[in-house]
Formats: sequence, C-alpha cells, structure tokens
Amino acid sequence: MRTQVAIVGAGPSGLLLGALLHRHGIDNVVIEQRSPDYVLGRIRAGVLEQVTVDLLHEAGVGERLAAEGLLDDAFVLAFGGQVHSIELFKRTGKRVTVYGQTEVTRDLMNHRAAAGMQTVYEADDVAVHGFDGGSPHVTWRKDGIEQRLDCDWIAGCDGYHGVCRASVPAGAIQTFEKVYPFGWLGILADVPPISHEIVYANHDRGFALASLRSRTRSRYYVQCSLDDKVEDWSDAAFWAEFAARLPPELAGRIVEGPSIEKSIAPLRSFVAEPMRFGRLFLAGDASHIVPPTGAKGLNLAAGDVGLLSRALAEHYGEKSDAALDDYSRRALARVWKAERFSWWFTTMMHRFPENGSFGARMQIAELDYLMSSEAMQTVVAENYVGLPL
Ligand code: APR
Ligand code: PHB
Repeated sequence: MRTQVAIVGAGPSGLLLGALLHRHGIDNVVIEQRSPDYVLGRIRAGVLEQVTVDLLHEAGVGERLAAEGLLDDAFVLAFGGQVHSIELFKRTGKRVTVYGQTEVTRDLMNHRAAAGMQTVYEADDVAVHGFDGGSPHVTWRKDGIEQRLDCDWIAGCDGYHGVCRASVPAGAIQTFEKVYPFGWLGILADVPPISHEIVYANHDRGFALASLRSRTRSRYYVQCSLDDKVEDWSDAAFWAEFAARLPPELAGRIVEGPSIEKSIAPLRSFVAEPMRFGRLFLAGDASHIVPPTGAKGLNLAAGDVGLLSRALAEHYGEKSDAALDDYSRRALARVWKAERFSWWFTTMMHRFPENGSFGARMQIAELDYLMSSEAMQTVVAENYVGLPL
C-alpha cells in the first residue's frame, strides 16, 4: 500500500489533518490502534477558539458546529464570594464556541467516511520506520496479518502515549515537563448548566469549573487530590463540594442530577522539541500537553495541523519546502505561549498544598488586580480567545 501522508492516530489532530490534506488533494491514510467507539468515548474539553472553528470550516466539517455550537462573548471568574466577567468580544472582537471535542471528533469521522478516505481502526503493534532516510513507512497487524504502508511523510498524531515520539532517538529530542500536585474530578450530567458562560472558581477548598455541552447537558469539575479514587466520590459528595466552591449566586442555580460520566484526570504541562524528525512530523498531544485550565489542548492540536497541512500543500503544489522546514519553529512558538497561559491560569486558580495560606493570598491579590486593570483583562481575553495562526 502507498499514500502521500501516513497519519498515525485518529484523534482530533489526525482526523482534522486528514480532512485538510484531502481538501488540498493530498492522499492520506489514518492508522488508529483503537476502535471508533473507544475514540468517541473519551470526554475532553469543549471550548473552540475562532482559529479552530475556521479550520473546521476549511476542512468542510463546520455545518453542525455552526448550527449547534454556543457562542460565548465572555467567561466568568469567581473568587472571594463574588462573580466577575472577563469580556472576550468587547476586548478582542472574538468569541469562543462551546462545542464538545467528542462532537468535533464525530463530525470528522463521519466526514472522513463519507469522503471515502481510508482509515484503519484496531491496528495492532503500529510502528514507524525509515523517517530519517528516504523510505518512510508504517507497519501494523490487523486481524493477525502484517500490513505495510509506504509514504512520503509520516504525521505523528498519536497523542501523549503514542508510538511516534517514542520512536525518535533520545539524543534528537528534548522534553520539558511540569506535573501538578492535584487532579480534576469531572462529571457529565443531563441537567441545565448554571451558566452558558464558562465559570472558573478560586476557593479555599480548591478550584471548581462549570462548563457545558448544551443547554441541557452540564460538564462540571472540582480540583481533587491525586490519591482520590473515582469510586470514593458519590454523586452527592460531588454536588456538595461543587456548590461549596461557588459564590452563593451561582451555587443557587445548580440543578443536581445523576452523573452519566465521572472521571479523574491528572494535570500536566509537557513539550517535546523539535516537532520534526526527517520525514516524521509530530502534532497535537503527541508533542505537547497543557493542563485543561483555559481549554487549550484541542485548539493547539488544531493549530498544529493547520500549519502542517498548509506546509504540505506548499510542498506538493508550489514545490517549496520552506514552510515544512519552518513548521517546528512556528508551531512551537505558538505552543509555548499557550503553555504559558495554561500554566499561569492553573497556578492562579488552584490550591497548591505546598504554597499554604501565603500562596492563596497572592492569588487573590492577583485576581483583584486583574479585575481592576483593563490592560490585564485584555491580556487574559486575548490569550483565552487564542493567538493567531
Ligand atoms: N498507533 C496508532 N494510534 C495510536 C497509537 C499507536 N501506537 N497510540 C495512540 N494512538 C491513538 C489514540 O488511540 C488516539 O485515538 O492516537 C489518538 C490520539 O488522539 P488524542 O490523544 O486525542 O490526541 P490529539 O488527536 O492530538 O488530540 C488533542 O485531545 O487529548 C486531547 O487535550 C487534548 O484536546 C486535545 C486533543
Ligand atoms: C470543558 O468543557 O470540559 C472545559 C471547559 C473549559 C476548560 C476546561 C474544560 O478550561
């Protein structure tokens, strides 16, 4: 089998890259180790920057998003028992769209199938070869039979635990990491959200976040200990803790209901440099992770594949490799700025056991300052709506 671009991983990065390449007439095959249902079962953030929305439209998958996505002009910061608004549209002229990553993935999957693009699911022992020389190829086993796909380029869109980054010789890659001393306990419930604007709450008991998937489905989180087990958190315990961390005017709007999903996720900042190794490119979670505060993960992934698809289109169309040669530098410049924003937002909003009461007062001083400074609100809004590609 032969294709122009072999894409490893059918998460949002791999599927969006495939769709964008297809628009440019570039042939690609996606190889994924899991089943479609497994991929759709992962629940992640649900806030899309305008750059991401534009790329989804460019890929031809913007229709349902345009009809069902909820546009937000602002987000909410809650602290000291008060509710404050960070105006996005007023300060930047941009909005964010609330639309779940699961739905983005579903739209991309349906589009891929309808366009007849080839996707291999449930591929075992996926391996990447020859990317440092002239014969890049991907191998895997499907139903016990060995398969080989020859290609011009390999796109490593296989997430943090994928095989692509792991296949790069240790001396060729540098990694940067910060692990946070807490996790997020999240629930999904079919109850009306307390607000259609996303609420980030700083509280002595820990951080809380109120988000949504639709007008009838809420996605809520509380900061928890890394030792906590999901089984030890009953729905009743979650609702009580969530309400305790919100100012009364928001807590009073909570409608409780049974959780339809409940999970704990650790928080991590991670970057691997560079994002290109010969004929292998990394994109999305395969090369960087952000903590979820600010919802940058999916948006960064979209930005990466936006840049990569344009660079590949230049290679095949205009026969110039300038953009391919610049991909890693350009993508990383954007990645590090989103890393900084996610780290800063996480640091300002969570209880850090080791920072004690002094750390908590510093956070409140910073939040107070933020709400008194037009300049700083503009800085925060600009980062939240996303930096240009
Ligand atoms: N071979 C083939 N596929 C693999 C392999 C492998 N060895 N290892 C992992 N995969 C697949 C995973 O099963 C997954 O479907 O690669 C896909 C990677 O998808 P994601 O982890 O969703 O990463 P990405 O597409 O970059 O999406 C980034 O997802 O994790 C969130 O916060 C992140 O929102 C961001 C977005
Ligand atoms: C979510 O909807 O799951 C979500 C929203 C905003 C965040 C993180 C997660 O910052």
